Amino acid sequence: MSNTTTSYSGETFRARFGPWAVVAGGSDGIGAAFGEVLARRGLNVVLLARSESKLAAQAARLRAIEPEKPKAGGRVEIRTACVDLTHADVAERVADATTGLDVGLFVYNAGSGRNMGSFLDLPIENWTRQVDLACGGPLRLSHHFGRRLRDRGRGGLVLMSSMASLGGSAYIATYAAAKSFDTILGEGLWYELAPAGIDVVTCLAGATDTETFREDTGGSPHAMDPVEVAAGTLDFLGRGPLYVPGKANRAGARATWPLPRIPRLNMMSEINAKSFGLPFEARTGTEFGED
Ligand SMILES: NC(=O)c1ccc[n+]([C@@H]2O[C@H](COP(=O)([O-])OP(=O)(O)OC[C@H]3O[C@@H](n4cnc5c(N)ncnc54)[C@H](OP(=O)(O)O)[C@@H]3O)[C@@H](O)[C@H]2O)c1
Repeated sequence: MSNTTTSYSGETFRARFGPWAVVAGGSDGIGAAFGEVLARRGLNVVLLARSESKLAAQAARLRAIEPEKPKAGGRVEIRTACVDLTHADVAERVADATTGLDVGLFVYNAGSGRNMGSFLDLPIENWTRQVDLACGGPLRLSHHFGRRLRDRGRGGLVLMSSMASLGGSAYIATYAAAKSFDTILGEGLWYELAPAGIDVVTCLAGATDTETFREDTGGSPHAMDPVEVAAGTLDFLGRGPLYVPGKANRAGARATWPLPRIPRLNMMSEINAKSFGLPFEARTGTEFGED
C-alpha cells in the first residue's frame, strides 16, 4: 500500500508548487485569499477573472505583500489575465496567458453561480452557465495543467467544491450537482495523478465570508474566513483527496458520508484498473482533515 500522506511547508512547498501558481477566479473571495496565501509563501501568481479593474486592484494588493521566507529577487511577481472561464476555448486562452511560465500549482476557485432559485422559473441559461463555470472550466483546465505538471514531474491541483456537493437540494439543484462533479472529479484525480508527482486536493467549503456569499445569502456570523479556508486547503496538499475546512463542517461531512471515502476510492479504482488493464496500488490518506 503506498502512503501518500505528506506535508509540505516553507521551502519544500515553494520547491514543489512554485515558482508560479495560477488561480482561476482569483480577484475576490476565496480566490483572492488563495493568491494572498501563495504570495506570502513566496510564489509568483497569475490571477484569472473577467473584470479587469478587480484584477488590477487585487494584483496591486498582492504585489505589496512581503513573502514570509526571504525569496531570491525580493517580492513576488503577479500577473493577470481577463478570461471568461465558461468559454469552450478557455484552455487555449489560459495557455496563451501562461506561456513560458513554470507553473507548479493550479487552483480552480470560481464556481458560485449567483443563480439560486426555482429550477423551472429561472431560464435554462442560468443553469447551463453554472455547469460551464463549475464543471467545464475545471475539467478543461485540470486537463491542461495536469499535462504540464506531469511533464515537470511535480506540482499540485486544487479544486474548490462545496458542502453542497454532499447531496441534492431544492433551489440549488444545479449548483449542488455541479459541485458534486468537482468533488468526484478531484477524488478520482487524487488517485490517478499521484504517480505523476501531482498532489490533488478538493476543498468542500462550508459558508465562507465572501462578497458572493454575502450577496447570495445576506451573510452569516458563522461563515469562515476565506484566508483560513485557502491556507487550510493548501496545507492539506499531499495528505488526502478531500479537505473540509472547519470542525463543524467536518462533522457534517462524516455524518453524511459515514463510509470512509479512501477505502471506497481504493475499492473502485481496483475494480476499474482490473477492467481496463491499468495499474492499481491501494493508497492511504487523511479523511477531510484532523480535529
Ligand atoms: N463562499 C462560500 O460560502 C462558499 C461555500 C462553499 C463553496 N464555495 C466555493 O468556493 C469557490 C469560491 O467562492 P467565492 O464565494 O469566493 O466566490 P465566486 O463567485 O465563486 O468566485 C469569485 C471569483 O471568480 C471570478 N469569476 C466568476 N465567474 C467567472 C467567470 N465566468 N470567468 C472568470 N472568472 C469568474 C470572479 O471575478 P469576475 O466576476 O470579475 O469574473 C472572482 O474572482 C466557488 O467554487 C464556490 O462554489 C464557496
